[in-house]
Amino acid sequence: MSGTRRARLLVSGISENLGVVLSLADRLDVQAARLEAGEGPSAATVTLDAETINEAAADLAGNLEGVRLALSEAASLARRHAPAFAGAGWDAPEWHSASVAAPVAGPAAAGSAGGMAGPAGAASPAGLGGPVIGPGGQPGLWRLGRILVPPLARGGRPVEVPLAVPLLDAGNLQITTTRERRGEAVGLVRGLLTRVLASASPGAVRVTVYDPHELGAGLAGFAPLRAHGVVGPTLTSRARLEAALAELSAEVGRITVDRLGGRFDSLREREDAGVPRGEPWRLLILLGLPPLADEAARTLEAVAAQGPSCGVHIIAVVEAEEGADAPGGRGVPSLPRAETVTAAELQGDPGDVGAVMPGGWRTSMSGLLGCALDDAPPMSVVAQVTTRVVAGVEQAVVRGPDLGGLLPPGLWEYESSAGVSVPVAHGPDGAVGLTFDDDTVHCLVGGQAGAGKSTLLLDVVYGLAARYGPDQLRFHLLDFKEGLEFAQFAQRPGDPFFLPHADTVGIESDREFGVAVLRAARNEMQRRSVTMRALGARDLRGLRAADRSSPWPRVVVVVDEFQVMLTPLDTVAREAVSLLEVLARQGRAYGIHLLLASQTLSGIDALDATAGKRGSIFGQFALRVALRTSISESRVLLSTANEAAGALSGVGEAIVNRRNGHPVGNEHVRVAYPDPAVLAELREQLSAMVVRAVPAMRPPRVFVGHAPAVLTDNPAFQALAGRPVPASGDPAGGGAAYGSGTGAALVPADGSVDGSAGDPLAFVGVPLDLAPPAVGVRLARLPGRHLAVLGPLRREAVGMLQAAAVSVGAQSAPGSLVVDIVAVDPATVSAAETLASALRRAGHPTYVTDVTGLRGVLASAGAEIRAREEAALAGQSGAASTTRLLVVFALDAGRAGLEARDDASRRSGLDDLRTLTRRGPAAGVHLLGWWRAPSRLADDLGPGHRDDIAAWVATGLPGGDLFGLAGHRPVTAGTTPNRAVLFDRHVQAEPRTVVPFAPLETRSGADNGTVV
Ligand SMILES: Nc1ncnc2c1ncn2[C@@H]1O[C@H](COP(=O)(O)OP(=O)(O)OP(=O)(O)O)[C@@H](O)[C@H]1O
Ligand SMILES: [Mg+2]
Repeated sequence: MSGTRRARLLVSGISENLGVVLSLADRLDVQAARLEAGEGPSAATVTLDAETINEAAADLAGNLEGVRLALSEAASLARRHAPAFAGAGWDAPEWHSASVAAPVAGPAAAGSAGGMAGPAGAASPAGLGGPVIGPGGQPGLWRLGRILVPPLARGGRPVEVPLAVPLLDAGNLQITTTRERRGEAVGLVRGLLTRVLASASPGAVRVTVYDPHELGAGLAGFAPLRAHGVVGPTLTSRARLEAALAELSAEVGRITVDRLGGRFDSLREREDAGVPRGEPWRLLILLGLPPLADEAARTLEAVAAQGPSCGVHIIAVVEAEEGADAPGGRGVPSLPRAETVTAAELQGDPGDVGAVMPGGWRTSMSGLLGCALDDAPPMSVVAQVTTRVVAGVEQAVVRGPDLGGLLPPGLWEYESSAGVSVPVAHGPDGAVGLTFDDDTVHCLVGGQAGAGKSTLLLDVVYGLAARYGPDQLRFHLLDFKEGLEFAQFAQRPGDPFFLPHADTVGIESDREFGVAVLRAARNEMQRRSVTMRALGARDLRGLRAADRSSPWPRVVVVVDEFQVMLTPLDTVAREAVSLLEVLARQGRAYGIHLLLASQTLSGIDALDATAGKRGSIFGQFALRVALRTSISESRVLLSTANEAAGALSGVGEAIVNRRNGHPVGNEHVRVAYPDPAVLAELREQLSAMVVRAVPAMRPPRVFVGHAPAVLTDNPAFQALAGRPVPASGDPAGGGAAYGSGTGAALVPADGSVDGSAGDPLAFVGVPLDLAPPAVGVRLARLPGRHLAVLGPLRREAVGMLQAAAVSVGAQSAPGSLVVDIVAVDPATVSAAETLASALRRAGHPTYVTDVTGLRGVLASAGAEIRAREEAALAGQSGAASTTRLLVVFALDAGRAGLEARDDASRRSGLDDLRTLTRRGPAAGVHLLGWWRAPSRLADDLGPGHRDDIAAWVATGLPGGDLFGLAGHRPVTAGTTPNRAVLFDRHVQAEPRTVVPFAPLETRSGADNGTVV
């Protein structure tokens, strides 16, 4: 028999026995007094003849002895089953010295603890629990006060037995009080809660409080636990209470089905059978009971009746007056499976034996005996316990279950034909994995900030990388947040490690880069599709069997904070959506999988604007992982009826669902924590494996959003050898670009403009693309072939002008290029000098001047253009073989000096500038100029001549300012530092974002931050 039951039987037995004994004694007393007074037998004592009196006296003696024994046994039982924090007086030293129950690791420990085991170590969803062991044992009873036993013999002393009630895994508690004595009842709850929290593993108990009267004031001492999910927000309205009841009832239903499953009667029994508990205890504390709607009243009854088997318990404080208010005057409801504590005046029948004084209490445990409740715990004790629980929860969160135990003993031992699978979490029944295969093709991860999304992605990537070789599985890893989580998969200064499975790593990726990666995945899918059709293969397995020329690895595209790619709703977002849709719908057959994580799935315009897209993309995501989030996000992330993620409280706690978010598929898990030491070891093993197994493996292409592009580190620049770069372009309409061989050689949109192999390409930056590594403007001998740099950002403007000039220099044979540099803005003089030295080193005559020389340089350019035109008319070609370049920093600042006309020639500086812009390129004279505002460029070009400069690159300007220049196309990018928008009207369909080359002198040397 359990201790609890035994204690109850003993105590109620005592109270009944005692009642008999005491009533006998009373009556004997009365009889004796009468006899002594010489009165005749009264009606009341008529049956008490001498014989009966003797028998009664003998009974009494026997009974009394039995009662004494039982009393002492009851007291010791109560003490044994309410050990340590469950029973200690508030002045006991352990409240201030001992720690709260320490989690005990492992299911075995939980199983062997018997009595009351908490969620078991690694297997608990909260990851917080071992068995509940306060120093000294497992509480089965919780002390509330004392049972007062009247003196057993005349002149004897009253006896006290600890009053302790069962609760966790046993039943509910109902305290019925008067309005005046409500404070005592709340004090009792405060004490009980203090004991429970101190005894249970931190986080193993979740508390919900309904307090319509004091709005939580009575239990305010526990408020610090709110931030950690141990205590929920105080419910104050009936509606919230009813909602909470509905939730609890759903939990009870879920536990009954999922956990008990017809095999066990209770979690307690299941745990005694050695199955890890996997559920916290949930306490609903009702500091008042409003009249409930019929349905809610039934729910309350049901939760009270079935809850205790599922670790769900109700502690209710009911004022008798509240019962009277109940509809239909139902009176105080009595909760099923509840021990009761009742204010004596509500129950007291003065005629009862051991009648309780007003101010006392009666309980279901002590029957007729009166009870005194302990004082409420001092605030210092509550504070101490709260602090320790908070610390314990935090510690448990930090520790969490570890990834180490989920990694395979050997590397790369799995094969991916049928799919890839990786354990990343612990559920109630052991490890829980994520699988990417034909059934669960793609996976969606959601959760609020800090819930543990990125950590989960790391678990997945490392876990898969440990199981599958780089020939079985490839990754594209994209991170759209500053988290830099994925930086660890690429080589970094001082850390040569790279993930051999990674094709691409994007850190703080730009949206365009993300789209380029999706495009690459789509292209790979199309490539596979063509091959499969040719071979008659129907799926990846078939493809692998039919064509052994390639291992045909599975490809997982991992995108953290993918919603960034889809906002705002522009061409980039539209392309991203359509690529995601294609990959989501067709990836299955080709072994191409998406793993997308996001803080928010609601309010993504690109998905909402096209209602069908959301469904057609996410309908393909059978596998979902929802970390802690709001109820509304839970509904979007899982399914409209699935609010489970809204109820998660801890970091790393998650719902895994393999049924498109349908509630029946919910699995409550705790995501493993990737311990840095474990990862460090795995990385070493992977590095060693690369050396051993795939020494030729190339590091991933890396894109680091914040890193500047450094011209001298750029492979395209390094490959220049005094010759113009070969003609190439980009099918997506991305400007004239030059690649390092990965991109196909492409025919430009307009070969006559862009394609002349004899024309140098003025590099301005690096495209947000997988390849090629530099992009620029071709300086062909045709109208419009100049470059205007626009915008106020000096660093970016200077960098691009320098890069353009130096790269043209690097494509020109010595002597074939002459450069004039004008630093109109004095702040650019040193940049001009640096540029000049670089050009001179390459063998090109270069002249530098400041604002005073601007007019002269333009006049000389104008004269040269006219001379070349005349020579051309005359059929001479020699002079024109040299290219002349004018590089002007902050041209707009020199405008004032260009207006005046020269007395002799009647020409103004502006006339010469316009000769240059209108007729220069055809004569081999090009302008690379920086204007700080687009309007000043337009002024300088003159009305109707905006097209005289066909290519511009803008930086630090709002997109709206570029609308006209871009041929009335919206421009959303390019307004941020370290980014620019390039538009070459002759070759591009759309403006494109580039990372501008950094100024020449600011070499970072470390990472060039570009696609390499
Ligand atoms: N499973 C886990 N176990 C223990 N701690 C975790 C777990 N997951 C995350 N954490 C902790 O929580 C912190 C936040 O986690 P993470 O960065 O993964 O969250 P996130 O959801 O990606 O947040 P954000 O939205 O800010 O990117 C981490 O620094 C980590 O210490
Ligand atoms: Mg994150």
